Order: sequence, then structure tokens, then C-alpha cells
Amino acid sequence: MPSPASIEFRPLRREDLNDLWEILNLRYDERAAGTPIWTAMFLERPSREQMTQTLEATLHQVEDGSAVFVAAEQAGHVVGFCQICCVVPGAPSEMSHVGELGMFVHRDHRGQGIGTVLLERCLALARSRFEVVFLSVWSKNEAAVSLYRRFGFSVCGHLPRVIRRGGEYFDEERMILDLSRTPVGPQANR
Ligand SMILES: CC(C)(COP(=O)(O)OP(=O)(O)OC[C@H]1O[C@@H](n2cnc3c(N)ncnc32)[C@H](O)[C@@H]1OP(=O)(O)O)[C@@H](O)C(=O)NCCC(=O)NCCS
Repeated sequence: MPSPASIEFRPLRREDLNDLWEILNLRYDERAAGTPIWTAMFLERPSREQMTQTLEATLHQVEDGSAVFVAAEQAGHVVGFCQICCVVPGAPSEMSHVGELGMFVHRDHRGQGIGTVLLERCLALARSRFEVVFLSVWSKNEAAVSLYRRFGFSVCGHLPRVIRRGGEYFDEERMILDLSRTPVGPQANR
């Protein structure tokens, strides 16, 4: 297993699209295998073309300053990412200071501290772009909720039964961080 020390944390590049497609696609393999994968997904696996369009849109947002993105690269491949995207991209709006966070680490690389570094770097970048960051996380995703709390996020809402997977329903938490009032980094006593 590689250690986080062997991981390079860097900006998104166009040539990452292949790797990102692979790791996002893995979520569908994990779901098909019955492994709990705590993110909401489309019922049908998106095509490579659809996924590429989504990633191209993210790249465009990074280029025009309406998103920040950190990739974790190991041995020449992206193994995880964290992104914060403006909730209302495009023309400046009354919510241009608000970003929505999403992150994912390849299943073979979880639990090694990569998520912690990704979050720290991404929030550090976000400080010069956003004032408020929020996210949605499955209530049962204790690892992620704990990670977000450690960085100062607090729960601002509980959404019961908003995910339907097969015959089962799952709850989500909305979590929020006021970047203008919180120093970025893991907080003590959380
Ligand atoms: C959530 C996620 C991004 C964290 O990335 P990671 O590289 O595993 O994170 P770290 O190794 O830095 O660990 C972060 C926390 O998760 C905990 N954790 C990691 N793997 C774990 C596991 N298998 N079981 C229980 N806890 C685990 C760590 O103990 C740590 O807890 P702490 O913050 O209380 O110290 C990653 O697990 C992931 O991609 N999960 C699937 C997708 C997902 O849940 N995305 C977030 C949706 S909002």
C-alpha cells in the first residue's frame, strides 16, 4: 500500500479525464458488488461520453474560476479528488460566494490519509474563492461525517429518505462551513 507521502496533490489536468472516468466508474462496480458506497448515483451507469462531458464541464469551471479542484496522483494515476464548485455557475449571482463540495478516493487507497490531505488542500484553495461551503453526505457515512467535522463543518439539516437504492431508503445530512470565520485545517477537539 502506498503511503500519502508517495502521493502528489496537484491541480486538475485535461489528461486526467481517463483516470477520473475509471475511478468514478468504480462506484458502480462497488454498488453492483453490494459494497456500501456512500454517494448518490444515477440508476444506470453513465456512458463514457456523458461522464467525459461532466468532467469537461468541471475543467471549464476550474479554468473560469468558478470551481477549485485538487487531484491526488500516485504512480502516474489519479487515485482521488476533492472539488468545490460554485452552486450557481455562469453569470455572477447572489450565491457566487457559495460552493458545493464533493470528494472521492479510490477504494484501494482509502484509510491512508489521502482524503484528509485532499480536503485540507481544497479548502485552502477555496478560501480565496468562496465564503461558504456546503455538502451532502449519507447519514450512515461515519468516516466522511467525522472527517468533515474535523475540518469545522457542522450539520445544518437532516434529509430523511432522500436516497432510494433498490428497495431501501437512506438519509442524508447537509453540512456547512463558513470559511470566512473558520481557519482551514483539522480542528482540535472535534
Ligand atoms: C470519505 C473518503 C473521501 C475519505 O477518504 P480517505 O482517504 O479514506 O480519508 P482518510 O484516510 O484521510 O480518513 C478520513 C477519516 O475516515 C476514516 N476512515 C477511513 N477509512 C475508513 C474505513 N474503512 N472505515 C472507517 N473509517 C474510515 C478515518 O479514520 C478518518 O477518520 P477521522 O477523520 O475521524 O480521523 C473516502 O473514504 C471515500 O472516497 N469514500 C467513498 C465516497 C464517499 O464517501 N465520499 C464522500 C461523500 S460526501
